[in-house]
Amino acid sequence: MRKLLIAAAAAAIFVAPGIASAQSPIVIKFSHVVAPNTPKGKGADKFKELAEKYTNGKVKVEVYPNSTLYKDKEELEALQLGAVQMLAPSNSKFGPMGIKDFEVFDLPYLLPNKAALRKVTDGPLGQAMLKKLEPKGMVGLAYWDNGFKQMSANKPLRMPEDYKGLKFRIQSSKVLEAQFRALGAIPQVMAFSEVYQALQTGVVDGQENTPSNMFTQKFHEVQKYTTQTNHGYIGYVVVVNKKFWDGLPADVRGQLEKAMHEATVYSNDISEKENAEGWDDIKKSGKTEIIIPTAAENAAMRKAMEPLYTEMAGRVGKQLIDDVVKVTQGVTN
Ligand code: LMR
Repeated sequence: MRKLLIAAAAAAIFVAPGIASAQSPIVIKFSHVVAPNTPKGKGADKFKELAEKYTNGKVKVEVYPNSTLYKDKEELEALQLGAVQMLAPSNSKFGPMGIKDFEVFDLPYLLPNKAALRKVTDGPLGQAMLKKLEPKGMVGLAYWDNGFKQMSANKPLRMPEDYKGLKFRIQSSKVLEAQFRALGAIPQVMAFSEVYQALQTGVVDGQENTPSNMFTQKFHEVQKYTTQTNHGYIGYVVVVNKKFWDGLPADVRGQLEKAMHEATVYSNDISEKENAEGWDDIKKSGKTEIIIPTAAENAAMRKAMEPLYTEMAGRVGKQLIDDVVKVTQGVTN
C-alpha cells in the first residue's frame, strides 16, 4: 500500500503542467476579441464542440469572446505566459512581438480573391511563416478567414485626397500605418474593443474593417459614410501555447488537430456568407450612407497605395513580398 502511495505521489509530481488527472479535464482557454456571431467567433465555438466530442470530454474548451478576458495586445502576452492556451489574432497583430512576416497580408490590393489567399496559406510560404511563431513560444495551427476590408468615416471617402488629415484607427501593423500615411491620413493604433467608443466620441474619424466586424460592433451606427473599397484583407492565425501543446498526450493532441482541421474548413466556408450578410445588414440599417466607388476612384486608390510594395520591403522582406505576389498573381476564383 505504502509503495503504491509513493508511486502515485511520484506520478503526480511528473504530470506535465496543465495536464489533467483522470477526473478533471484539460482546459483550453480560447480568448478572442470579436463577437460570437462572426467567422472567428463561430470557428472558435465549432472547435470547442468538436474538441470536446473527439476527446470524449477529456478536453474542455472555454471560449471567451468580445475581449471579455483580454484585449488585443494583452491576449498575446497572456498566451506566452500560459494564462490562456489558444487565440486567433489577426495577421496584423504579430508585428509588436517581432514577427513581421504576417504583415505581408496587410499590403493593399494584394489578394484578388480567397483562392489567391489559399495559395499562400496552404502552400510552403504560409507554412514557413507559421514556423516563425515557435521561437516566441507559440505553435501556429491554422489560418482562418475573415474577409475584405471596407472604409468608413464621417465624411464621404472616394478619392485618396478625401482621407487627408483624418484620423483612422488601425491594428498594430506598420503596413497599415504606411497605408494611411500614403493617403495623407493620421493612423492611430487602438485595441479592437475600444474602436466603437473612439468613433462615437470623435477620438478618431474613421476606420477600416470587414462588414462582419463592423456590423457586430455597430461601427456603422457611429459612421456617416461607409465605402465599399475591398482594399485589404483580415484573416487570423490560430495559435496555441507551445509548452502546453507539446505537453499534451499524443492521442489528445491528434484529436485536437482533427477538431482544428474541421473547424478551419467550417470557419473558412462560412466567412464569405457572414460578410455578405454583414454588408446587407449595414445597408438595411440605414444608419450609414453606402458609397460604391467608380472604377476610376478605385484605380486612384490603388495608385496612391502602390509605393507601399517597395516602401515596406525593409519591414516585411522584399523576398516575401515578391514570393506572395508571384503566387497570387492571376489566380481566379
Ligand atoms: C481588428 O482589430 O480590427 C480585427 O482584427 C479584430 C478581429 O480579430 O477580427
